[in-house]
Amino acid sequence: MLKTSFLGKTFPNPSVLASGILGVTGAGMNRVIEQGCGGITIKSVSLEPRTGHPNPTMIGKKHFFINAVGLSNPGVEEAIEEIKKFRTLSNAPVIGSVFAGTPEEFAEITRQICRAPLNFLEINVSCPNVSKEFGDPFAYSIPAVQTITQKVKENSNVPVIIKLTPQAWNVADIAKAAQDAGADAICAGNTISGMVIDVRSRQPILHNKQGGVSGPALFPVALKAVYDIYKTVDIPIIGTGGITTGEDALAMIMAGATLLGVGSAVYYEGEEVFKKITDEMIAIMHEENIHSLDEIRGAAHN
Ligand SMILES: Cc1cc2nc3c(=O)[nH]c(=O)nc-3n(C[C@H](O)[C@H](O)[C@H](O)COP(=O)(O)O)c2cc1C
Repeated sequence: MLKTSFLGKTFPNPSVLASGILGVTGAGMNRVIEQGCGGITIKSVSLEPRTGHPNPTMIGKKHFFINAVGLSNPGVEEAIEEIKKFRTLSNAPVIGSVFAGTPEEFAEITRQICRAPLNFLEINVSCPNVSKEFGDPFAYSIPAVQTITQKVKENSNVPVIIKLTPQAWNVADIAKAAQDAGADAICAGNTISGMVIDVRSRQPILHNKQGGVSGPALFPVALKAVYDIYKTVDIPIIGTGGITTGEDALAMIMAGATLLGVGSAVYYEGEEVFKKITDEMIAIMHEENIHSLDEIRGAAHN
């Protein structure tokens, strides 16, 4: 009932682990798959290891999470080894994820990560937490997204997903530009920039002062981004941001998503959340006499 075809690959259900949440070790990725997740996105990696920002890097509130992890990662070589380990445990789809500071570096990291047994490659041009080092996210700029998409496509041996930010007011135009530059799919999207202040100390709580907001508060923002992007592109969309229930998941598909990225819900409810979301989807589909997700994809546009 939930089986989903995405760029020629069949997912048992449309849920995928969003980048940055547990997708670091082969064993961790396998545990998520065993809990009913349809596919994995690895934590974004760079050419060299990075330590990221000093603590505190993450705060959880009832309606949102905010993080400024700062893209800490063990570097591409270790990521390749972990993906190989995962492959010995599972055949589930794997989406690689990379970031870099320049178009040339994106080309190089793409060549490197493509030595791993990946099914797809996601390009993170939208992290809001590293502007001190990298400047504004590339995902705000049509020319930057086009140049990076072209570079990555020239160097990738798997389909390429461009991960955008719903914080860009013209995210639908940016998605269209990515498609025109050769992107195979869009992920919409990343966290959006925010902050939290401690009233006793009168200071920002995160060491980095600002961070990326995720979780339920992000859901309507991500939903509208997917809705708008669906109107401008013909390529599939991974709807990501604040999904915690089966109802959220079906709404995201009605906005136009094919796959559903789930991140913060894992912090709220544990790895079991994938099964909870898919069970709830099936229950609503029975109630509403919906037989397949294809039947309702983009339905909110009719
Ligand atoms: C702690 C944390 C780390 C993240 N790291 C990455 C990352 O490395 N690369 C990336 O593309 N997105 C990263 N994200 C963004 C998520 O993949 C996702 O786009 C965002 O959290 C919205 O989905 P959610 O509300 O389901 O968490 C991270 C999010 C969190 C909370």
